[in-house]
Amino acid sequence: MEKKADIGLIGLAVMGQNLVLNMNDRGYAVAVHNRTTGRITEFLEGPAKGREIYGADTPAELVAQLKKPRRVMLMVKAGPVVDSYIDTLVPLLDPGDIVIDGGNSHYPDSERRTSALRERGIHYIGTGVSGGEEGARTGPSIMPGGEVKAWPSVKPIFQSIAARAPDGAPCCDWVGDGGAGHYVKMIHNAIEYGDMQLITEAYQIMKDLLGMNHEEMAERFAGWNAGRLESYLIEITANILRVNDQDGSPLVEKILDTAGQKGTGKWTVVDAAQLGIPVTLIAEAVFARALSARKDERIRASEVLQGPDGQTAAGSLPSPEERERILTDLEAAVYAAKITSYAQGFMLIREAAREYGWTIDYGAVAGMWRGGCIIRSAFLSDITAAYKENPDLENLLQAPVFSRVMVEAVPAWRRSVVQAVESGIPAPAMSSSLSFFEAYRSARLPANLLQAQRDYFGAHTYERVDKPRGEYFHTNWTGSGGSVTSGTYDA
Ligand code: 6PG
Repeated sequence: MEKKADIGLIGLAVMGQNLVLNMNDRGYAVAVHNRTTGRITEFLEGPAKGREIYGADTPAELVAQLKKPRRVMLMVKAGPVVDSYIDTLVPLLDPGDIVIDGGNSHYPDSERRTSALRERGIHYIGTGVSGGEEGARTGPSIMPGGEVKAWPSVKPIFQSIAARAPDGAPCCDWVGDGGAGHYVKMIHNAIEYGDMQLITEAYQIMKDLLGMNHEEMAERFAGWNAGRLESYLIEITANILRVNDQDGSPLVEKILDTAGQKGTGKWTVVDAAQLGIPVTLIAEAVFARALSARKDERIRASEVLQGPDGQTAAGSLPSPEERERILTDLEAAVYAAKITSYAQGFMLIREAAREYGWTIDYGAVAGMWRGGCIIRSAFLSDITAAYKENPDLENLLQAPVFSRVMVEAVPAWRRSVVQAVESGIPAPAMSSSLSFFEAYRSARLPANLLQAQRDYFGAHTYERVDKPRGEYFHTNWTGSGGSVTSGTYDA
C-alpha cells in the first residue's frame, strides 16, 4: 500500500465500524483490523467500499500502514482483550506513538496502562465514547484521559468526529490524567442508569396507578420532552411506548422484566462506597436492576406477600383532574430527582479527582455530555453554565439556578413519593433521592444518637456540639463499662 493512514482502528464490531466511517467522512484515512479477518473483508466490501479505508490482516500490518506518530485505537471488549492487544502492539510501536482504548474500560486499568506505557515512551489514551451505534456514526460524546502529551495529536480527529452541543462546541475535550476519561464515562453510565430508572418509575405510576394506555403514556413523555425534561432517554421512551408487537399490542409489555447490566453502574457504586460519597439514586438504580433480575424469586414472593398494587390502593382510577395533578407532580418529581442524581454524580467526580490527583473541569464534563451521548439533555447546558459561573461550586444543588428550582419542585416531589408509597408502587430512585435531599439540606441530622449508640456498645467515642471538633469523649453509659475507649478513626 502506497498511501499511509491517519489512524488505525482495531475491532470492527458495530461501534468500531461506525467510528471508522465517521472518521473517514471527516477526511481521515483509516487502517482497520479485526481478530476475525472475515469481518474486515465484509466491511471493506460493504459500508467501507470506495473509501480511504484499508484492511490489515494483522496488527503488524496495521501499524506498518500508519503515518507517524502512529495512532492506534482499540474498540474491543474491555478487560484482558485490551491488555492482550497492548502487548501485541507495544513491540511494533516507537516512542511517541499513541494507543487509544475506546471501550468501557474500568478506570484503574486505564490508570495502570497509562503508567506502564509511559515507561516505554508510548502515549496511552483511555477514552469514554458514548452514543451507541448511531452516535458513533454521526457524532458521539468523547471523554479522553490518560497521557496528556498525546492530546494535541488526537484532538483534531476526536473533535471533528464528536457531536456538537447546541452552541456548536464539540462534545469532546481533555478530561484528565490516567484513568480520568474512563472515570467520567463510568459516571456518565451510572447517571444513565439513574435517568433510566426514574423514567421506569414514572412509567409504572402512569400505567398502574393512573391506568394510562401506551399511547397516552407516549404522548405524556413526548410532552415532557418538549419541556425542561428534554432528553434523549425521554424521547426514546415515547418512541418505545408506541411500538406494537405483531399482534398489535405494545411490544414493551412482551419484554421480560429482568434488567441486564455490564458493570459500569456497579463499579460506580463500589467506588462511591470506597470514597464515602452518597450516590444514593445511582445505587438504587443498580440495585433495582439486580432485584428485577431475581424474577423467579419475585414470582414466588408475590404469592405470599400480597399488598396494594397500583390502582387497587385507591380502589378506582383517579378523576381526570386528579390524574392531571398527579402527572404535573410527577414531572416535577422526575426533574428534581434528576437534578439530585447529577449533583450526586458530580460529588463523586469531585471526590475522585481529589483522591486520585486529577484536575477536572466539571463544566467541561457537563459540556461534553450536552450532545451525542445517551444522557444528553437540555438541562446539561444549565449545569455547564452553573460551573462556568462558579468553577469552585461545592455542589450543584447549591447553584442558584438549581436551588431555586428545587425549592419549587420539592412539594410535588414529596407528593409523588407519598402517592407511590401509598399505592404500593416501588419508586426507589425517586424516594431515596428525596431522602438524600432532605438530609442534605439539614444542618442537623440524627447521627448524634447513632454516635451515642456506638459509644454505648463499643466505646467508639463522640465529638460534642459545645466543644471544638477533633476532641473526643466517652461516656460510661451504664455505669458498669470501663473508661477504656476504642480507637477513633473513620474508614
Ligand atoms: C453509551 C452507553 C454504552 C452502553 C452501556 C450500557 O454511553 O453509549 O452507556 O456505554 O449502552 O454499556 O450499559 P449496561 O449494559 O450496563 O446497561
